[in-house]
This record gives sequence, structure tokens and C-alpha cells, in this order.
Amino acid sequence: MCGIFGVITNQEDISIGKIALEAIKRLEYRGYDSCGIVTNYNGELFIKKDSGKIDEIHKRLKLDDFPEGSKIALAHTRWATHGAPTKINSHPHLDCSNKIAVVHNGIIENFMELRNELRAKGHIFQSETDTEIIPHLIEEFMSTGLDLKTAILESVRKCTGAYGIVVCHTDYPDCIIVVRKESPLVVGIDNGATYCASDIPAFLPLTRQCYILDDDEMAILRPGGAKFFDVKTNDEVSKNLIQIDWNIDAAEKGGYPHFMLKEIHEEPDALRRTLKVPEEDIKAFAEAILSADNIYITAAGTSFYASLAGKFIITKFLGKYLQAIECSEFKTQLSNALPDNSAIIAISQSGETVDTIEAIRWAKNAANVKILSITNIVGSSMTRYSDHVIVTRAGPEIGVAATKTYVTQVLILALIGLKIATMKGVESEDEINEYCRALRKTPDIIENFLSKDIDLIQNIVKNLEKSHNFFFLARGISIATAKEGGLKLKEIACRFIEGYSAAHAKHGPISLVRDGFPIIFIAPPDGTYERLIGNVMEFKARGGKIISLVVEEDKKVTDLSDVTIRIDQPANKYYNLLSPITFIPALQLLAYYYSVAVGLDPDKPQNLAKTVTVH
Ligand code: G6P
Repeated sequence: MCGIFGVITNQEDISIGKIALEAIKRLEYRGYDSCGIVTNYNGELFIKKDSGKIDEIHKRLKLDDFPEGSKIALAHTRWATHGAPTKINSHPHLDCSNKIAVVHNGIIENFMELRNELRAKGHIFQSETDTEIIPHLIEEFMSTGLDLKTAILESVRKCTGAYGIVVCHTDYPDCIIVVRKESPLVVGIDNGATYCASDIPAFLPLTRQCYILDDDEMAILRPGGAKFFDVKTNDEVSKNLIQIDWNIDAAEKGGYPHFMLKEIHEEPDALRRTLKVPEEDIKAFAEAILSADNIYITAAGTSFYASLAGKFIITKFLGKYLQAIECSEFKTQLSNALPDNSAIIAISQSGETVDTIEAIRWAKNAANVKILSITNIVGSSMTRYSDHVIVTRAGPEIGVAATKTYVTQVLILALIGLKIATMKGVESEDEINEYCRALRKTPDIIENFLSKDIDLIQNIVKNLEKSHNFFFLARGISIATAKEGGLKLKEIACRFIEGYSAAHAKHGPISLVRDGFPIIFIAPPDGTYERLIGNVMEFKARGGKIISLVVEEDKKVTDLSDVTIRIDQPANKYYNLLSPITFIPALQLLAYYYSVAVGLDPDKPQNLAKTVTVH
């Protein structure tokens, strides 16, 4: 999410500002909305920070210009999670005495209660961020006589959530202290200089030797060296120095050849983070949906297909039909027909898709409606027109084809559906618990799949390389998976696909089927399964090559298929309802390897843009 960098050096003739600026430039690829640099020199902190692009901020503030002789700098690129992308919310954050500076990557979940405690003790906060509680906590512990290291240890022990933090203190001009839990942190060692960063590319041109911090580890960095400690026991730990042999391009992609592949592999963590979205936010959506007479759901592209899956889940528990309308059709189709007391769920990864924004802006003026937005970007334009916003925690998505944001969008919609079920009392507590248990298992199911089934997907691709047309067919909730899985292949492998209802395909599409025509069936063992078997047989009888996506213990569809991709999840209704999340990575990978096999760049599909701001 955020990018962090720190340096402590005793090298002569260097410009610490230039080193920090170049480091955060190398973190730009991660996506960010603000940046900042602080140096610790002669008992004072010198700070430059703002929201916007690094180059623009540099033009205004000269980000490489800090007092000569500074030997410590911390730098940050912010990806807003708590508080809008503004100068005040940019990192670094300071304590009340302006002696302690902190940059942070991650989310402190209990920051509100900690902030209340600290306010009661007289601490004054400048920003809306969760990060700012860290310097104040450290300050508070130091006021009881603790040294910097012990005060940091005590502070992080009070924090729940994820953090990679970097701290400097004007009274400690000979060290930087870093701590990690769940958010990545690496330490780079050079002659006379030590670096830390959220990501290896930040210091790759400076050194190729590094240590990787594990969870609950602290490091004290001094020029050219570092000592490591266990946060829980305070014992010193020894770590192995690693030699990095990637080039900068590979390092940005975490060792993966493309961002898309990296982002597919990030799905389990993106889901885990999104599972921690505050319950009040989910509840606010559920209440607005429950009190509305009509409910619409609107989006574009992949977000629209997430809405098809979500519509199915919410309708099931709400007992009222949700209409999904593509954002570009919203105004046209509902002109003079949008009733008051409607709720509109708008979904957009970027929060900037102009057609989605236009749909909700129009709706707000046309009737008395509540706008409920789901986006991956805090402070994006869409949020300005919304009554309630939920931010998915997928982290920046660089690949043009959306992958990890899709699974987090469906997850949020499932959480809303389950909240509605609880509030309406339409399912017993035991049933709800079973659905929630299945939801919490989705990251593990995907992780398990990604760890073992890549060869199978690559083999399927090898056999399909020459095919130019595909059907992706399913029934019920899996129609969303068929459409989204097919869209990926269309977008990045430039194949023609039809993502369609398996039942409806006999009314037209089936006329195209010849020997060897590839048809991908999405077949979780839900209430549509038996009828889907009939559809598989119809296509098989006409020579179709059947590739099916099934659960591990599947037999019937397996027997009819040429190849199966198996997802190891229980064959019951709880997991079936969540199959749009657990089945999609297989199809994303299929599209990815297909794109690579036919010589295309999956990260840069032709004619497509990540964010579409034209009608
Ligand atoms: C573009 C992208 C798609 C994306 C769609 C909607 O077409 O290429 O990948 O799904 O916009 O984007 P949004 O940011 O609104 O989810």
C-alpha cells in the first residue's frame, strides 16, 4: 500500500534529500496520492510533504533540498486509508514536541481508542490518520523515562493491525528504528550507509545486500549495520544477509514477470485485509439497503461483474430483487423512472470512472436516493457524491486488467449480504456463522490453489493456443464468474469470448460449436448443478472441448469434461455462494498464461486504460 524508505549514513559528499527523493520515485509504481520527506539534523526535524505527484511537489518544495550535513532521512509515499489525501494527512507524522518522526505502511486498527486515550492525556493531533498515534504513543512512553527503543516496543505492543514503521528522534541522531508486523520491511546494507524500505526497488541502485524483517521484529539501524530484536521478548535475533540479483524491473514486480501475476498472488492478503473493514461501515450499507424501497447496483467492466455476483448474494438474503444496471445505461434506462427512497450501490475500483460518477450524480439530483459506494481509492471522486463509502483494501492495482480488486469487491458485497441476513433474522445464527467461516476461508482456498495448480493451467493453455473463440458458460451466481473470467481472456489475450448463461446458450450461441470449440463451464455443486450437466452434454454432443471449473470432489461434470480445474473447497451451500471469489483466480491465471503464450503483454492490453474518464 504505502511506500516507505529510510536512510542513515556516514558517507561524505552525499545529498540525503536527493537519496530520499530518488528512492520514493522508485516506489511510484506502487501507486500513491501524497508524499513526504523528513531529515533529522542538528537536533531538529526538517519536513517537506504534500498531496499530489512527486514531480509536482518537487517543483514546488524542492524535495532534494535539506540542510547540508543531514545524515538521516525518512521518506514516504502515501496511499490513503484513513483520512483524505491531503498535506496534513501525508507522512511523516510527529509527536507534540516535534522530536519524533514516523512513517508507516499498514493500518492501526485500534487507533480510535488509542487516540482517545492520548487526547485525554493532553496530546494534540493534527491529522485524521491512524499513523499519527504512533509518535504520540512513543512520546507518552518516553515521558515515563523509557529510552527510544523501549518506548517503541511498548507502543507497538499496544497497537493491533498491520504496520511497517520507521522512526527517528532528534535526541538519537545516530540511529533509525524500524518495526514490522504484517506490512513488508527490508533493510539494505552498504559501506557506511543503511537503508530500510517497504520494497526492495527503493534502495536497489544503492545496495544489493539486504535483510528481510519477519513479523514482530524490530531493527536498530546505524550507518553500515543493523541489529535485530524480537518485539515480544526483546531478545536479539540473528538474520541472514540476502544478495538480490533481480533487476529493478523484476524487483518492482516482487520477482514476478508481470504486475498482473503479482496481483493475482496478492489476492489472499487483499482478502484478509478487506475482511477487517470496520463492521459499522458494513452495517451502514445494510441499514440503507433495508430501509430502501428499490435497490440498484451499478458499475463498469470488472466492477459490473462483481456487482452481478453481489446482486445474487444480497437478493438471496434481502428477499427483494436488486437491479444491476451498467453505469452507462443507468440514466437512460431510469430517466423519469427512478423512485424516491431508492438505494444505489455504485462500485468502482478507481472511483473515477466517469460513467459511474455520472450515474450517481444524476440519480442524486433526480430523486431522493442514498448512494452507497464501494471503491479501492480513498477520497476518489465517486466518494464525494456518496452517502456511505466502503473502501476495499486490495492495495494499489497496477495491471490494467482488474484482478485482486474484483475479489475484494465481491467479498464486501457478501459481507453486506450476511449483515442483512443477520439484521432481518432470515438465517439462524448458526447458519450465519457457517457463511462467515466460509468467507474467512476464501484467502486460504485461493492461496492453496495458487501454490499448486499453475502447471495444470499452463498445460491447458498449451492445448488452446490456436483457439480464437471461446464460450464461458454457467448458471446462477456463476454467470458472473463466466463473464468476468471470459472478460480477462478477451482483455489480455485478445480472444473472442462469449460469457453467457449456459441455459440460454442453446438459443443462438450453440450454433457456432464445431469439433474442438473450447467451452469453459463454471460448475460449483449448487442448485443449478444438475441442469448444468444437461448443458454440458448439449455442447459435448456437438464436439465442444469441455474445460470445467469444479470443486475437488466433483464427479459428474468431471466425467463429461476433457480437462478439469479443481478448487479444493467443501461441496456445500456456504462455499458455493462464495465461489465467485474462490473460482475466479483460476480463470485470471488462464487468461494471464494465454496472453503470455501468444506473445502479448498482460499488463498493457491494447486499446484499454486502467481508468476510463471519457463517456
Ligand atoms: C476500465 C478498465 C477495467 C475496469 C473498468 C471499470 O475499462 O480497463 O479493468 O474494470 O474500467 O473501472 P473501475 O475503476 O470503475 O472499477
